[in-house]
Amino acid sequence: MSSLAASDERTLAAPAKVIQPAWVRVLHWINAVAIILMIMSGWQIYNASPLFDFTFSHSITLGGWLGGALLWHFAAMWLLMVNGLVYLALGLATGRFRKKLLPISPSGVISDTKAALTGRLSHDDLTKYNYVQKLLYAGIIVVGVVIVLSGLSIWKPVQLQWLTALFGGYDVARYVHFFCMAAICAFLVVHVALALLVPKSLRAMIIGR
Ligand code: HEM
Repeated sequence: MSSLAASDERTLAAPAKVIQPAWVRVLHWINAVAIILMIMSGWQIYNASPLFDFTFSHSITLGGWLGGALLWHFAAMWLLMVNGLVYLALGLATGRFRKKLLPISPSGVISDTKAALTGRLSHDDLTKYNYVQKLLYAGIIVVGVVIVLSGLSIWKPVQLQWLTALFGGYDVARYVHFFCMAAICAFLVVHVALALLVPKSLRAMIIGR
């Protein structure tokens, strides 16, 4: 009797809430691999003709030399672009972007920033993003689009001269490309630190709940 009651309880127990659907998790981890390859090969490309007074340590670059790095960059580019386009299409088609990322209000961002800085931001309901998360996630999607467009404009400045002109020319597009990379790196530091500090969110990205 008692085992019957226990099995009834299991049947009646609500299924664990799926926080991140499977397609988000798969696309997220493919994107993570592609972005790391793009950053490391990008640093090697940068080292061949630095824009600033510093170069990146060889130990954290990919490709070994300029030619090798360009091959890595252009190979990972397809992974990043196809994955990114599928993500944008599904995010729009399923209404996920609208539901998860909108609306973003300045007052919401200010109050959630204050709450985060004073340790009062709740992480109880991971299905809802707070305003700071919404702003950062929406912002990084825009940066992702700009880094791809600026990358295309410095890759094919003759064929896509209208795009290169839109950025203000080849040299400006190169700086834009670099600063987008810096913004992505800054985002990654915060993103990874928070995922480690709130282990539930990392688990949701791996197993969905
Ligand atoms: C479709 C996507 C992309 C394309 C077509 C592309 C293309 C290029 C090209 C052609 C260069 C060489 C520029 C030069 O010769 O000076 C370059 C450099 C670079 N890329 Fe990308 N890229 C893309 C995405 C990315 C992403 C996602 C990142 C990092 C998150 C990245 C980081 C870099 C960096 C750091 C450099 C060196 C900057 C410089 O010195 O000009 N790229 N990219």
